[in-house]
Amino acid sequence: MRHLVDEEEMIVTPWEVRGKIDYEKLIREFGTQPLTDELLSRMKKYFGELHAQLRRKLFFSHRDFDLILDRFEKGQKFVLYTGRGPSGPVHIGHLAPWIFTKYLQDKTGAKLYFQMTDDEKFLTEDETALEETTQWGYENTLDLIALGFKPEDTSIIFDVKDIAFLYDIALKVAKRVTYSTAKAVFGFQDSTNLGWIFWPAVQAVPCFIHTKLTGENIPVLIPAAIDQDPYWRITRDIAQKLGYQKPAQIHCRFVPGLGKGGKMSASEPETCIFTIDTPEDVKKKVWNAFTGGKPTVKEQRKTGGDPYICTIFQYFLYLFEEDDKKIAELDTQCRTGQIICGDCKAILTERVNKFLKEHQRKRRKAKEEVKKYFLKA
Ligand code: TRP
Repeated sequence: MRHLVDEEEMIVTPWEVRGKIDYEKLIREFGTQPLTDELLSRMKKYFGELHAQLRRKLFFSHRDFDLILDRFEKGQKFVLYTGRGPSGPVHIGHLAPWIFTKYLQDKTGAKLYFQMTDDEKFLTEDETALEETTQWGYENTLDLIALGFKPEDTSIIFDVKDIAFLYDIALKVAKRVTYSTAKAVFGFQDSTNLGWIFWPAVQAVPCFIHTKLTGENIPVLIPAAIDQDPYWRITRDIAQKLGYQKPAQIHCRFVPGLGKGGKMSASEPETCIFTIDTPEDVKKKVWNAFTGGKPTVKEQRKTGGDPYICTIFQYFLYLFEEDDKKIAELDTQCRTGQIICGDCKAILTERVNKFLKEHQRKRRKAKEEVKKYFLKA
């Protein structure tokens, strides 16, 4: 399997992802477990054909996912939990784990709790107003609904609106975590504002909210990018002391932006495809993408390109080409110079635009539905 490389130093925190990402090293440093072939074959046994994001190792690491599969095997329930820190439009990189969450829900029937952390981005971004993050929260909900989540299986928590229901659990979590732990796990500084220092307790709450709502003490499984793992580290340490089950997780890589290296980030809008982009925006962004091509077509025809470093290829791999045979073909055709970057860009532009046209239609339709997804506490 080929993944992007980059030369800078690696930094991965819930608020910053930079440099050459070494995923093996992250597993070691964070102390998570690799998603082994054995686990994948168990999934295949229960769920049938594996999702492309599993076959291609976009999801690559976990904590206690084996225990969740044990529960599934015995017909015992669990719930799903994931979320989004809204401060701008959703881009395609955000959709990948949500699409995967939908797959898990379809296969297991588990209920989903989705946390819109409009408080988080207000606290962590200097220039962002609270009204803005809240507004983006509702906007971003449309993208989630557009992916097909059903209101009866999905509760969206809006932190600011729902805080009264979350607050008792947040307090119980916060009291168990010392500043010295929080500092070591999150890298807080003297200049970090107080709200931010308390905030990780709020992201822990949905791990336990199902129990509060229903009295059913069952674990959550959290599909999320691996940069969110520090939250669950502290949550797992205290869960049982509070009488809850430890949250399990399944971690994905970062979907790269269209620029050189790193993850897709809304702070570099020209390198990420937003779900509200027009076909012209998409064409322009894909056209300017960083690829594994050679300086001239002539040279590329002769010596071939390098899908290993190509952002376009990553998009086929993670989101826009389901067929493994076609991926293998593309890899060979690129390496042997049979296909050049202009060809791939044209194919990807067409696929992204086809997907977005449909997504935007569903997104518009979702506007009337949002309230049905609110947490009913
Ligand atoms: N902190 C996440 C972000 O910045 C949002 C979030 C809250 C989340 N709860 C989550 C993400 C659970 C994944 C899983 O986007």
